[in-house]
Amino acid sequence: MRGYLVAGNWKMNGSNASNRALVEGIVAGVPSSSDVQLLVCPPFPYISSVAGLIEGSPVLLGAQNVSAHASGAFTGETAGSMLQDVGCEFVIVGHSERRALMGETSKTVALKFKAALDIGLKPILCVGETLEQRESGQTKTVIDEQMNAVLDEVGIDVFSDAVIAYEPVWAIGTGVTASPEQAQEVHRHIRRLLESHNAGVAERIKILYGGSVKGDNAAGLFSNPDIDGGLIGGASLKSDDFLAIAEAAASLS
Ligand code: 13P
Repeated sequence: MRGYLVAGNWKMNGSNASNRALVEGIVAGVPSSSDVQLLVCPPFPYISSVAGLIEGSPVLLGAQNVSAHASGAFTGETAGSMLQDVGCEFVIVGHSERRALMGETSKTVALKFKAALDIGLKPILCVGETLEQRESGQTKTVIDEQMNAVLDEVGIDVFSDAVIAYEPVWAIGTGVTASPEQAQEVHRHIRRLLESHNAGVAERIKILYGGSVKGDNAAGLFSNPDIDGGLIGGASLKSDDFLAIAEAAASLS
């Protein structure tokens, strides 16, 4: 039983005041099911204060990006050791916004994934196709390229400590969610790819879905055999919305 992970990617949103209200709301409403884990990923400046707000609760902490380098002259970058130092257990790598807007290649993402693992952080590797790629029948080719770049860099065994998030770019922030069938098909493809390297790792790894997940569509997605939770953007910014998704997971566990 893999259990569910419901992760909030706050992206570049929040303030001290709004974070406090959000986190206090989440902490007060964590579902009692031990099969559902909640994770929040605030922007860098707020990680330490959010760490204080979740202290003593089961809510987990992550970051949205990490440097591929361990330390040194990399102005504006943040090392994995620093994220760990301030309480992070997870870090998102390869989000489509970073791939598209910051020019991160699959190779860069693979190096960040490796840097996270080297320091003991759990990377959440985001993969996903654009609408154009889906419509031209390229979805699985794109996913394979993004996955294989990381597999080639680090091998399969360390995926035991990682999470994958399938996030179709066309579903992110658009209100258009992949149907449960569309999502399950890609999730199964990802698990089969991992299975071709190591069946045990493939069976254990959590594969999250991301892209316009809301309280009212979460159960339909999460009830599929290869969907182990969600990476949530917009609906992670209000505690009631985020908790509705967590409750949907709890109702299935
Ligand atoms: P939305 O939930 O706002 O579509 O964002 C999804 C996402 O990009 C999470 O990383």
